[in-house]
Amino acid sequence: MGIHNSESTNLSGLMKTHHCGQLRSSDIGTEVILCGWNNKYRDLGGLHFVDIRDKHGLTQLAFDEFKGDFAVLKGLSLESVIMAKGVVRARPDSAINKNMSTGEVEVSVREFSVLSQAQEVPFLPHGKISATEDLRLKYRYLDLRGEKLQNILSIRSNAMRIAREALYSEGFTEVETPILYKTTPEGARDYIVPSRVHPGKVYALPQSPQTLKQLLMIGNTDKYFQICKCFRDEDLRADRQPEFTQIDIEVSFANQQYLKNLSTKIVKDLFKLDKNFEIPVMSYQEAMTRYGSDKPDVRFGLEHHVVTELFKGSGFGVFESIIGTGMNKAIFVPARIKEFSRKEVDALVNVVKPHGGQGVAWFKLKGDEVSGGISKFISAEILNELKQKAQVTEDGTFFFCASQKESVAHACADALRRHFGHSLELIKKDDYKFLWVNDFPLLEYDDEEGRFYACHHPFTMPKIERLDDFMSGDKEKLKNLPAEAYDLVCNGYEMGGGSLRIYQADVQEKMFQVLGMGEDEVNLKFGFFVEALKYGTPPHAGIAFGFDRTVMLMAQTDNIRDVISFPKTNAATDLMCSAPSLPDLDQLKELGVSLSKKD
Ligand code: AMO
Repeated sequence: MGIHNSESTNLSGLMKTHHCGQLRSSDIGTEVILCGWNNKYRDLGGLHFVDIRDKHGLTQLAFDEFKGDFAVLKGLSLESVIMAKGVVRARPDSAINKNMSTGEVEVSVREFSVLSQAQEVPFLPHGKISATEDLRLKYRYLDLRGEKLQNILSIRSNAMRIAREALYSEGFTEVETPILYKTTPEGARDYIVPSRVHPGKVYALPQSPQTLKQLLMIGNTDKYFQICKCFRDEDLRADRQPEFTQIDIEVSFANQQYLKNLSTKIVKDLFKLDKNFEIPVMSYQEAMTRYGSDKPDVRFGLEHHVVTELFKGSGFGVFESIIGTGMNKAIFVPARIKEFSRKEVDALVNVVKPHGGQGVAWFKLKGDEVSGGISKFISAEILNELKQKAQVTEDGTFFFCASQKESVAHACADALRRHFGHSLELIKKDDYKFLWVNDFPLLEYDDEEGRFYACHHPFTMPKIERLDDFMSGDKEKLKNLPAEAYDLVCNGYEMGGGSLRIYQADVQEKMFQVLGMGEDEVNLKFGFFVEALKYGTPPHAGIAFGFDRTVMLMAQTDNIRDVISFPKTNAATDLMCSAPSLPDLDQLKELGVSLSKKD
């Protein structure tokens, strides 16, 4: 009965022979050493038991044959780290626990020691944790001990391995690029790092390695990938962190189809999908029309119908006043899904308000009868057209989101649809529905500022057949230009985004000009990049998967903090180490930096 090491590796040198979720009836009679945390200690009238826990599970330790000092057990605090040596034996039938993977056995302890006595912990990291999220973030290392976060860390690690293997199998080279770099515009503010050697000058942390990966294409790298950190100082949300991870990809001589095929392979491997899996394609315009969103959740229906014109002459002033300038979108909810009470309908205004909506108009349809809400404006003709548009053949409720601004109508109807999706429980949680959304607009015009912004980033190629329109610089033509850009969407999340790149120096210069950058600014920020394009640049294209969001989808959580080992709060702080913190004054002096407090 020798001690043998049956951890998954044969390497010697571990203090333990098994992990705490491992022992089974087949191990009965084996001498083992277990190490882990004290999950629970019980003294049942002289019969002592400890549940020892590690990331793999729990094992019951029994002390009836223990000849050592029981005082050590009595003083044992929860979450102390312990080591037990003993022999595996069957539990009596009455003590078998079917809910525990090790529930048929226990270890009869011969030797026992406390490796690290824990002081009282702020919360216990297992079972139902009632601590607030802030407390859990402050003691993240305790929260990490629990099953949920350990599972997610494993999912994340496994996903990284699968993505790497998929890319290696396609002949990709993994290349690291610098973190101390120069501005890489992706629409957020840069995090900057002052230089000590060059006082007054700063590095910028990359918002993504966009220019670097393009320079790698110019440098003959051909098929590049990197699992890298990106840094963006932007408003945070449930699916955004200031520091996040991308699977970043760039390929020379590739078109959109190649990037879609590659993404399909990675998604198929990650989500273990059927070998015939294909990602459906939808244009940006179609996504906006049908769902009011460029990242629609297509796990459920309740599509939008544009009904703006239909209300001409209806007598309903609100709807008539937006014809020509705004948009009116309808959603039909069949009565078999939900019959709404007056109170429920009235409360829907709260769903659209945050998106600029003033209210949600509605009426009910039963047979050919309409009632409630705006029903007095619904003539037989309008009803007929509505029914045709929405392909309605049953009873239900029509809802309307109308606004003078198309973007507001889209946003409100999107919010309403998502609200119904969740509140009416139309979404199957373990369902994955992917979309490849393409033909995004190239530029967005800001009326107030009177200038263009890049919708994706300034390195994105205008739709090739419209290149002349782009080079003309004509404002009206620029406003409606599509781009060679695409997003990978899953369950309402933008999981990845990419584009074909501008590879001609004159087109790139034009793009900077269109975005309002003067020659000096372009030279200062991107002179080196535009120069590089002049020395022989292969046409190239790429994509970046938001890796944290990918893991969120795999782990079925809607909180990005769950999938990051040491995440930041929505206010970009690390509660565990109190970052950001005040700098050392000597350090500032050395950097030639002085700070002023914001009012
Ligand atoms: P983009 O800015 O669309 O493209 O980013 C790619 C993907 O990264 C994820 N993502 C984020 N995840 C968490 N927190 C954030 N703050 C955050 N911002 C973005 C999203 C997004 O789809 N260089 C280009 C890619 C390319 O063109 O190849 C880029 O970074 O899932």
